[in-house]
Amino acid sequence: MDPVQTIVHQDGVLIIGAGLAGLSAALAVAKEGRRVLVVSPVTLGTGCASSWAQGGMAVALGADDTPELHAEDTLEAGAGLSDPEAVRVLTTEGPEAVRRLLGLGAPFDRDAQGTLVQSLEAAHSRPRVARVGGDGAGAAIMAAVIASVRGEPMIEVWENGQALSLLSDTSGAVRGALIQCGEDRIEVTAHAVILATGGIGGLYATTTDPAEVRGQGLALAALVGAVIVDPEFVQFHPTAIDVGLDPAPLATEALRGEGATLIDAGGQPFMKRYHPQGDLAPRDVVARAVAAEQARGGAWLDARAAIGELFPDEFPAVFRACMAAGLDPRIQPIPVAPAVHYHMGGVWTDLDGGTSVLGLYAAGECASTGVHGANRLASNSLLEAAVFGTRAGKAAASELRSGDAALLSAEPAPSLPHAALQRLRKAMDLGAGVTRDAPSLTRLISEIDALEAEYGRALELIAARLVAEAALARTHSRGAHFRRDFPELGAVRHTLRTLTTRPALMAAE
Ligand code: SIN
Repeated sequence: MDPVQTIVHQDGVLIIGAGLAGLSAALAVAKEGRRVLVVSPVTLGTGCASSWAQGGMAVALGADDTPELHAEDTLEAGAGLSDPEAVRVLTTEGPEAVRRLLGLGAPFDRDAQGTLVQSLEAAHSRPRVARVGGDGAGAAIMAAVIASVRGEPMIEVWENGQALSLLSDTSGAVRGALIQCGEDRIEVTAHAVILATGGIGGLYATTTDPAEVRGQGLALAALVGAVIVDPEFVQFHPTAIDVGLDPAPLATEALRGEGATLIDAGGQPFMKRYHPQGDLAPRDVVARAVAAEQARGGAWLDARAAIGELFPDEFPAVFRACMAAGLDPRIQPIPVAPAVHYHMGGVWTDLDGGTSVLGLYAAGECASTGVHGANRLASNSLLEAAVFGTRAGKAAASELRSGDAALLSAEPAPSLPHAALQRLRKAMDLGAGVTRDAPSLTRLISEIDALEAEYGRALELIAARLVAEAALARTHSRGAHFRRDFPELGAVRHTLRTLTTRPALMAAE
């Protein structure tokens, strides 16, 4: 192992990851008057899924909407595995989160009367997705938040840092992290650490997520014994634009909210054959239907009549992505395929982002707050990042453990070479895709074993194994986890896993 070159004592909180959850947490820590160091692998605003979010932020603001109705839809989508209290927190604190972002300058779309415009997305009973510039919510919200972060003297940002391991004290509490910063290895000690590393899309070959997002937070947390919940629940977006790009650009669900239709190889709408809600059926149902139609000859999103000439103004990001691929969505249907888009599973947290390990917090996609259950409702993720990121920051800021206790040396995880990562990504697509079964998952686990034997226990392999083993052990279908060999709904239970003991499956209501 290369020697640690520097030790930095951070008299405050260390945040690993800089999407909306990490930066919301940073602003909350600073507001409490504590110092905070944010470590991002790349320049703020890049390399995180938050900046790429198209739909927007689901929040009950309309005259005919309430947080209770939003909660009902969220619980319904979660297929029995959402925690009602976490959902209540999300939906009741949602309006305040949007007001906070407006205060930071996030330019949410308004109509001529100045009212926020809200779109309809699948499985929402009301139009409730607050959007920005049509389909540019993530980038615009992040720009406003980044400007605030850069102007906050209590926040320091490193923009080329990767966490290699977490540092614990002799009691097991997390007290910092070993960071690779360019050529340097730096031990950063802190009163508390917040993981906000995003999801696992980069572990798959077909994803809408940035390549930087590869389940690192999940693995880092697991390595210090944190409880991981439901890692088998991976959400596939049904309408990634299928033009051979990696990552795949997204065609937002709001297009279907505006009337765009999924059509088959014969040009016929097909969703009514799969679900009474047709094109606005729950996301997992639409993803499986699109996968089935792909196998029969292809699936396309036809927005010619519903959007047509309005495309450049109403959905500029989708329009640009299509035109860059030589496809004019005003006059041509868009070829689509399901792609990994979100991880519902994650590091278990309480309502304030606290994990099962002292000193360690998690927020955003790498966390499992209990909101999303087996299937996330569209546009609940930016909201969760803002609401629970802020709560985690506030809670972590109250940690006052002194920064100089003896630390257990942490062995950094080996890195996975590019070619090996590509092998893993292909194996994940084949083994733990939209539909899975025992043979596909067993083959995937054998490939992870082989990669681990060759390259060691890289963070990506730990995260992939958590997904694959939990998917193999859940011998029924629920939400986004669909087993070809066990298509029936089974008991409502969570998967809880830790790495320090034998993986255990435990029942939970
Ligand atoms: C979309 O715009 O379709 C994505 C929204 C989301 O995944 O929450």
